[in-house]
Amino acid sequence: MQAEKATRRVRRALARRLDPEPRRTPSPAGGGASAPAAPAAPATRADTQTEAMRTALRRLRNGNASEPERAALEKLVVAWLDDQEASRSTTATTAIAGAFERLWQPRTQPVPLPPEPLLSVIRDQFHRLYYHASRTSWKDTWYRGVRAYKCPTDMWVYQELIDSIQPGLIIETGTFLGGSALFLADRLEIAGRGHVVTIDIDEHPGRPEHPRLTYLTGSSVDSEVLAQVRKLIDPEAPVLVILDSDHSQAHVAAELAAYAPLVTPGSYLIVEDTNVNGHPAVPDYGPGPFEAVADFLAVDDRFEVDARAERYHLTQNPSGFLRRRTSPAGVA
Ligand SMILES: C[S@@+](CC[C@H](N)C(=O)[O-])C[C@H]1O[C@@H](n2cnc3c(N)ncnc32)[C@H](O)[C@@H]1O
Repeated sequence: MQAEKATRRVRRALARRLDPEPRRTPSPAGGGASAPAAPAAPATRADTQTEAMRTALRRLRNGNASEPERAALEKLVVAWLDDQEASRSTTATTAIAGAFERLWQPRTQPVPLPPEPLLSVIRDQFHRLYYHASRTSWKDTWYRGVRAYKCPTDMWVYQELIDSIQPGLIIETGTFLGGSALFLADRLEIAGRGHVVTIDIDEHPGRPEHPRLTYLTGSSVDSEVLAQVRKLIDPEAPVLVILDSDHSQAHVAAELAAYAPLVTPGSYLIVEDTNVNGHPAVPDYGPGPFEAVADFLAVDDRFEVDARAERYHLTQNPSGFLRRRTSPAGVA
């Protein structure tokens, strides 16, 4: 109720500002014969809208708005940003920049982030820029001269996880040219322990060799392949799993069923490319890894999504870094 009232108040204020009628020049006091004032340039609808949005953003930034007002203002600002035509990109840029200004040398803690809807718009659009222009981004990413279909921020998270988990075995499904497997093997070499097994249905001659890396050929859910993988597990050492093969929902679901039990408590089951099918990339992909993860988490409470793994804002695996709990859900 309070939120509705606030929305109406903000809408009325905006309606007043968005009045397309040109402002009238006030008549001189007393109606005397003084020289007529030069007529003010009529404010265009775009000008008044931009000015209104600047005011809204300023109020959000200053923290002067109550919570319901804040929610209403955020909705309007985001709707306005969505409506911006290409020809008005400069004003949109100004408005967005304004919302991020307070992040510069913030004096308050916690840092006053821009409103969440605005953050999501920025994150999602940047994600699409990164992911959809693939030939100049993730399809052109290299590790030691080998192509790796990976996002650099995700690779950084991988090496952080390796440092903290110290895995005895990393299982990767989907090798492609071996760039990601080589990266993982190098990180294990630095850690001084562990091995990588990577599985692909196809062979690619010329993949890199590494003493800590084993290639298996076959489908990741084939029972013989799984038996070979199980043989490499040291029961005393942590196991980390990365699923990056066939990204259809059915295949990822089958991989989750086969590999989740191998992940040790405190370690991770990472499901790659949960970003497709509109999360937020490739909206017409069809059900894929994200949907498989959602179904899996609905029935398996041994795992939880680690939001911290997404803190660099850009990840190809949103809700895909699954940590195996060390104690049952709900028990501290
Ligand atoms: C996205 S690529 C892997 C990229 C690689 N991990 C990297 O980061 O560079 C997917 C790979 O999965 C393989 N693949 C597809 N279906 C598979 C299956 N059923 N089992 C194993 N690998 C499969 C494909 O041949 C392809 O090389």
